[in-house]
Amino acid sequence: MTKFTVNGMEVDLDVDPDTPLLWVIRDEVNLTGTKFGCGIGQCGACTVHLDGMAVRACITPVSAVAGATITTIEGLDPDGAHPVQAAWRDLQVPQCGYCQSGQIMQAAAVLSQNPDLTDQQIDDMMTGNLCRCMSYSRIRQAVREAANAMKEA
Ligand code: FES
Ligand code: FES
Repeated sequence: MTKFTVNGMEVDLDVDPDTPLLWVIRDEVNLTGTKFGCGIGQCGACTVHLDGMAVRACITPVSAVAGATITTIEGLDPDGAHPVQAAWRDLQVPQCGYCQSGQIMQAAAVLSQNPDLTDQQIDDMMTGNLCRCMSYSRIRQAVREAANAMKEA
C-alpha cells in the first residue's frame, strides 16, 4: 500500500510501486487535469507539485511519493484564483489547452519559491514545458503578470 495526500485528500492505494504517479492520479484518483504527453519527462504536460516542487508525474514512480503531499491543477486553488491562473485567464493563454495544466503548475511552483525573476529566468524555468500550439509568447506574458502580482502580494 502507498499512502500520500492529493489536494488535501489522503489516499491509500494498492498499486505496483513502479506505477508512474501520472497514471495513479488519473486512473486511481480520477483527477484528469494532469495530462500525458511524452511519458519520458520531456514535455511537461504531466507536471504536478510534490511537496511544493514541480515534478514530472510520468517519470515519478508512485513509491517515491509515499508520505508526500501532491498538488494537481485541480487543487492549486479551490476557486481557480491562484495568481498564475488569474493571469492565464486575463491573457487568454490557452489554445487547444492540452499543455496548459502543466504550464500553470510549473510556473506556480517556481514563482512560489521566488517571484522576482528576470525575463530570461522566466524563459529558462518554462523551457521544459512544450506547447504544440506555440502559445509561448502569451505564456511568457502571463508568467510575468503573475510574478508581478505575487511580488506585490
Ligand atoms: S508526459 Fe510527462 S513530461 Fe511529457
Ligand atoms: S495550448 Fe495546445 S499544446 Fe499548448
